[in-house]
Amino acid sequence: MFDLKNVSKTFTLHNQGGTVIEVMRGASLSVSDGECIALTGASGAGKSTLMRMLYGNYSAQGGTVQVAGVDLVKAEPREIIRLRRETLGYVSQFLRVVPRVPTLDVVAEPLLALGVDPQIARDRAAVILAKLNIPRPLWALSPTTFSGGEQQRVNIARGFVHEFPALLLDEPTASLDAKNRDVVLGLIEAAKARGAAIIGIFHDEEARDRVCDREIDVTGFSPQAAA
Ligand SMILES: Nc1ncnc2c1ncn2[C@@H]1O[C@H](COP(=O)(O)OP(=O)(O)OP(=O)(O)O)[C@@H](O)[C@H]1O
Ligand SMILES: [Mg+2]
Repeated sequence: MFDLKNVSKTFTLHNQGGTVIEVMRGASLSVSDGECIALTGASGAGKSTLMRMLYGNYSAQGGTVQVAGVDLVKAEPREIIRLRRETLGYVSQFLRVVPRVPTLDVVAEPLLALGVDPQIARDRAAVILAKLNIPRPLWALSPTTFSGGEQQRVNIARGFVHEFPALLLDEPTASLDAKNRDVVLGLIEAAKARGAAIIGIFHDEEARDRVCDREIDVTGFSPQAAA
């Protein structure tokens, strides 16, 4: 599902005299259906950068970045949009929402984008919001004023409402209490059981040990570490 080969990444700082910094060299990894891997490595090692490349937000200078057979290095923007709509889910660390849109619609949106009947989409959104313990009176409100942990759960609900075959999870349990953390880990386990391939960043070691099959230390892809 995920397949990276020999990927290199540099950033050019145009507003700082065009300084070029090389942050990744020879990065390779592959993740099969039903497998969950954790990206590890010290702060600044390149975990988030790698995840942004896998979502097509950052381009790579060399190598291939394939997700479900689509090479993100060469893909047209509309191919990437389609991949994100149908195949590749992403739970970012922070929820970005349009003000005034009710929580129920925020969560139903990925299904509506796929053409699912609006009533069915809202029903499924309700099921997952209930599972994640978001109080029903909040469903009609915009999540903009929600607590950090509530916003994170809305974000997770959005990422899991459609059964994406591939998922990228950036710190999905970071600001949750024990009970909700357990719900989220259960969602991850269920996704694996239905065959989803998952790449996550988990600072919570216990969570990582419970759901991840392997760890990939991105320090090994860092030119600084190799030098
Ligand atoms: N947009 C950017 N422009 C320039 N440099 C960047 C950019 N994004 C990341 N970097 C650099 O790339 C390196 C890797 O950063 P990255 O955010 O991927 O680290 P990380 O492993 O996610 O760290 P953390 O655990 O602190 O989140 C850092 O040296 C960072 O300064
Ligand atoms: Mg990061």
